Amino acid sequence: MLLGVNIDHIAVLREARKINDPDPLEAVFIAKRAGADQITVHLREDRRHIQDEDVKRIIQSSSLAVNLECSVDPDIVEIVADLKPHRATFVPEKREEVTTEGGLDMNEPNFSNLDKAVHYLKAREIETSLFIDPTKEAIRGAKTIGVEWVEFHTGTYANIYAMLFSGLSKTHHCIKELDIDRSKLKKLLKKSLLELESACEYADEFGLNIAAGHGLNYQNVEAIAKIEKIKELNIGQSIIARSIYTGLENSIKEMATLIKKNR
Ligand code: PXP
Repeated sequence: MLLGVNIDHIAVLREARKINDPDPLEAVFIAKRAGADQITVHLREDRRHIQDEDVKRIIQSSSLAVNLECSVDPDIVEIVADLKPHRATFVPEKREEVTTEGGLDMNEPNFSNLDKAVHYLKAREIETSLFIDPTKEAIRGAKTIGVEWVEFHTGTYANIYAMLFSGLSKTHHCIKELDIDRSKLKKLLKKSLLELESACEYADEFGLNIAAGHGLNYQNVEAIAKIEKIKELNIGQSIIARSIYTGLENSIKEMATLIKKNR
């Protein structure tokens, strides 16, 4: 299983001060040394963290494949076409969200916009992926559009896990709709895992390459790493958070080891 390290949060720290430190490019060399397989960055329309110049420097200097997350906005798609990452992953974007809260809306008119954007990049030899919820409908949509990859959003699983096992429910970030009886939460956790597993089987039957990510950390990654059909995990927040205490090389190595141990 491949590990893509999402380094957006390094740019979050830099942008908090509007200076040039820490430089996300440095993380690319460390990630390579630590055994990561890919660098993932998200060039958001609002440029709240990663900037165009970051992506350019990372693509030019990285010996790791670069997975560039982006929206279907035509201006952004044009920039991605010029930057020529190894892969473009289309994700939904809402200006007011803290992070990417769910998979892409696969209904019209979003479907046509996605279709157009995917074909534009494929014609320029950029591999394409859609960040989707683990549903049959979304998988069928991805197959119709013709992407090579899908990435399943693991946020529902991660949220339930956090409410059950991390003490999140006792903080001001308690997820209200999941503030329910523990036995019900356990059932929901099982259901979310089963949904991910059957989505993987379904996508595999269509010949799609499967990635997964969002909210994965050192506790909840084990069950996801065990899903055989998943080829790649993209993980950001937990790795960067741990790196504050252990250093980035260690935090990436620790995650890579944990993933390998559970294959
Ligand atoms: N994959 C995709 C498509 C993402 O948009 C993100 C960031 O939201 C991640 C993976 C990584 O998520 P996290 O930072 O929660 O590990």
